[in-house]
Amino acid sequence: MPDIRPGTDDGLAPNRALWDRWARIHGSTPTDRFYDVESFVAGRQTLRALERDLAGEVAGRDLLHLQCHFGMDTLNWARLGARVTGVDFSPIAIERARLLAARTGLPATFVEADTQRLPATLAGRFDLVVATYGILCWIGDLDAWMGGAASALRPGGSLVLVDLHPAFQAVATLDPLVVDWPYGGGEPHHETLTATYAEPGLSLPPQESVQYPYSIGEIVTAAAGAGLTIKHFGEHVAAEFDPRGILSAGEDGRYRLPFGDSHLPILYSLRAVAPDRA
Ligand SMILES: C[S@@+](CC[C@H](N)C(=O)[O-])C[C@H]1O[C@@H](n2cnc3c(N)ncnc32)[C@H](O)[C@@H]1O
Repeated sequence: MPDIRPGTDDGLAPNRALWDRWARIHGSTPTDRFYDVESFVAGRQTLRALERDLAGEVAGRDLLHLQCHFGMDTLNWARLGARVTGVDFSPIAIERARLLAARTGLPATFVEADTQRLPATLAGRFDLVVATYGILCWIGDLDAWMGGAASALRPGGSLVLVDLHPAFQAVATLDPLVVDWPYGGGEPHHETLTATYAEPGLSLPPQESVQYPYSIGEIVTAAAGAGLTIKHFGEHVAAEFDPRGILSAGEDGRYRLPFGDSHLPILYSLRAVAPDRA
């Protein structure tokens, strides 16, 4: 297991408690439109064009899904023919993922682990490592995360990461415009949360959380530092959904972050490749 940068563990316990709570709730209330489990079970494809295009053809390939939550996206990759393994540090999420796999009859392996300390049993086994939408802000040690993702890849395998853009993460509200996060730096940002992004109207007991802001430069540098070669880096000003519940949809149904007469990016996408040692 990789060593963790000293002082970066302070978020693990509160964040696990938070995600255990959210993993119990998400997709299990009749009012949850964000995670619509019933339509997924009926065959809806939850994956979006961004990650599907970057991953390419996945049928017959070994795919590791990092921070898989309760497994809906993981099982969608299985639906596309990948042999999937999902990892999450929340025991509740992993339990629910296994139940969902059983319910759908889709083959999948789910592992409970911190993505900064991936088990050695996962090393060198995957053609693709995928992580999407709400990933690195939970990670205190970005280098350990990238190192683990890189080590899980076979030679020539790809990391596909699609996540919230740091410019979007920095914005708390749009009207009035309030910016309450630094742009990068990786310093812990403590917050007490009483709701979930999936159901902002639901009032929950206060729960401490710790998140970590990373700049685009820090993310790209961490990928390069882990020995990966960056083949694609995209910054996206329009998204099919609002990952944080603070945007309004335009006439085309897509969500944007207004910035004067223009827009700031909401998402970024990265594809980086492990060295081909063959
Ligand atoms: C926003 S969700 C991931 C998005 C996923 N695509 C979804 O919406 O289903 C973030 C996930 O990261 C997990 N997580 C946070 N910190 C983690 C860590 N250090 N190790 C493993 N999983 C972690 C949480 O339990 C949660 O399931």
